[in-house]
Amino acid sequence: MWRKSLICIVLLLAPLMACSEDTTVRNSFVETKGGDFVMNGRPLYFNGFNAYWLMYMASDPSTKDKVTETFKQASEYGMNVARTWAFSDGGYRALQTSPGSYNEDMFKGLDFVVSEANKYGIYLILSLVNNWEGFGGKRQYVQWGRDQGQYLNNDDDFFTNSVLKGYYKNHIKAVLSRVNSVNGIAYKDDPTIFAWELMNEPRCQSDLSGKTIQDWVVEMSAHVKSIDKNHLLEVGHEGFYGESMPEKKQFNPGYEVGTDFISNNRIAEVDFTTIHLYPDQWVYGASDEVQAEFVEKWIQSHINDSKVVLGKPLLVAEFGKSSRSAGYTIGARDKYLGSIFNSVYNCARDGGPCGGALFWQVMAQGMENWSDGYEVVLEQNPSTAGVIDQQSRRISSLD
Ligand SMILES: *[C@@H]1O[C@H](CO)[C@@H](O)[C@H](O)[C@H]1NC(C)=O
Ligand SMILES: *[C@@H]1O[C@H](CO)[C@@H](O)[C@H](O)[C@H]1NC(C)=O
Repeated sequence: MWRKSLICIVLLLAPLMACSEDTTVRNSFVETKGGDFVMNGRPLYFNGFNAYWLMYMASDPSTKDKVTETFKQASEYGMNVARTWAFSDGGYRALQTSPGSYNEDMFKGLDFVVSEANKYGIYLILSLVNNWEGFGGKRQYVQWGRDQGQYLNNDDDFFTNSVLKGYYKNHIKAVLSRVNSVNGIAYKDDPTIFAWELMNEPRCQSDLSGKTIQDWVVEMSAHVKSIDKNHLLEVGHEGFYGESMPEKKQFNPGYEVGTDFISNNRIAEVDFTTIHLYPDQWVYGASDEVQAEFVEKWIQSHINDSKVVLGKPLLVAEFGKSSRSAGYTIGARDKYLGSIFNSVYNCARDGGPCGGALFWQVMAQGMENWSDGYEVVLEQNPSTAGVIDQQSRRISSLD
């Protein structure tokens, strides 16, 4: 009898304990259905931010609270998604110190980011390598290859050299298989992660035919899905058009970068499309009117293609206004962010493929030496925070 009652108590307590341990762990993954993101069969819309620095701050006890602060504030302004780096290759406080070797302190930082995002209801897009030199990037992989005696011409060999592709595939596997030291959940099983991103802004200037990037996306997207079928995947695309539909190149800002928005995103393993938007850099020196016209066409053409040609949802994954751009005022920034939010909201409201937008970027207070001109420090910029808050409220009302 005592035995039986003991079992009862254990059976009763076990689920309660599991619940009290972490009541908020989500149990469904974000999916896509046609041109929509869906959660449990219902459409889901996003408003959120970029913050590439989260792992770095999280891995140092003296700056860890910046991550918590940022997620807390973001959730107060209704934001529900953050895009950040799940890479840091070589160099100072690297995650991957050399091919296949990881700094456990940095990985614990990333663990904290993932578990903390879940606490505040923020989904994550985790990017797996950089096209650019920041935090290592393809250049670091090429250096690692040279250190092993590979003969490599330039950084774009990252996309084709079999040793480097092997290093990158191992990194994908290390991150996706990581078991979170805070909550015990493998990343590949954690619904807090909304999507994996193959690369931040892939470009291959040395092969404008697009074949190099296309082959690489085919190979790497299959690799991701062979490890993790739960999560969505996107390329990290800026949106540049290429050879598969040459008539679309008129929408490029006057040049190509070796990517092809249509063919890269057509790959079955790629679940949704992304665009970035930097008129101040891409059509540098052009008048405000010319930049505004570029922005309008860039968004509209990608909306059309995501819907009609690709039948996949679209996320505006990076956009912002730099305080270093000509004629900058906070008011001009608010107006610009507001105009992008309008386009995304109208598209979503009218049944289009827009799933949301992520501005570049949020910084916490006390990160002045990280300033890149685009940062929004929420508590110091109430007017900008207000514009963001309004978008969060109206787009989530479409869920
Ligand atoms: C997008 O599609 C609409 C409706 O078919 C069309 O009117 C518009 O010109 C297209 N815009 C671009 C930039 O392709
Ligand atoms: C900013 O300053 C902090 C503390 O002094 C330092 O740890 C960090 O590396 C600096 N960041 C940059 C981007 O210079």
